[in-house]
Amino acid sequence: MPLLVAPALPAGSLAAQEQPHLPVRPGLTLRPWRDDDAPLVRAAFDCPAIQRWHVRRLDDDAEARAWTAQWAARWSAETAASWAIVEGDDRPVGQVGLRQVSLAEASADVSYWVLPAARGAGVATEALLALTRWSFAAGLHRLALEHSTANAASCRVATRAGFAVEGVARESVRHADGWHDMHLHARLA
Ligand SMILES: CC(C)(COP(=O)(O)OP(=O)(O)OC[C@H]1O[C@@H](n2cnc3c(N)ncnc32)[C@H](O)[C@@H]1OP(=O)(O)O)[C@@H](O)C(=O)NCCC(=O)NCCS
Repeated sequence: MPLLVAPALPAGSLAAQEQPHLPVRPGLTLRPWRDDDAPLVRAAFDCPAIQRWHVRRLDDDAEARAWTAQWAARWSAETAASWAIVEGDDRPVGQVGLRQVSLAEASADVSYWVLPAARGAGVATEALLALTRWSFAAGLHRLALEHSTANAASCRVATRAGFAVEGVARESVRHADGWHDMHLHARLA
């Protein structure tokens, strides 16, 4: 059946370029993941809060390397993207990225986590703002985020980055301790 609405963005809108490095603030940059980031990614997924809200753990270095390696193909396929949030010495302190990218709807979900030692200094909020600026400049129209209503820190990050609350999806996601109501936030270009 022919579609009656043209895709909002043509294929290649993202992948025609290399995944960019993006400035966040002095001493903080977003860059693509590298193989040698794997030990840090493994440490990140040892954090109980990251395990809790991202519902995954990594069991060995091979899994961590597979995690860092997956993003190149997902960038090329224009389905998802992830950036390491790095300090001036190029050491990652967190992750921010796009999931469920739809060129047809010019939309994506956002994702973020920050290592415990780097929290409380605006890293997640400012990294999300940098990603948002780039995404809208690249042509995306809507960025969304869902977090558990029990995840107050994520709610603050989304709100401070200008993602308005649109509602609550009741018991829509299962975490290790059962169903969670999810807050839906979104920001439009
Ligand atoms: C959520 C997370 C990314 C925040 O990272 P961060 O770099 O510390 O965030 P920022 O410093 O930019 O902002 C943190 C905000 O959350 C608030 N905050 C932090 N911990 C909080 C808590 N336990 N309860 C309520 N608010 C909290 C801070 O006060 C700040 O808000 P404010 O500036 O209005 O005071 C980080 O805590 C994390 O990685 N958590 C585990 C993974 C996760 O929850 N990912 C999101 C899944 S949807």
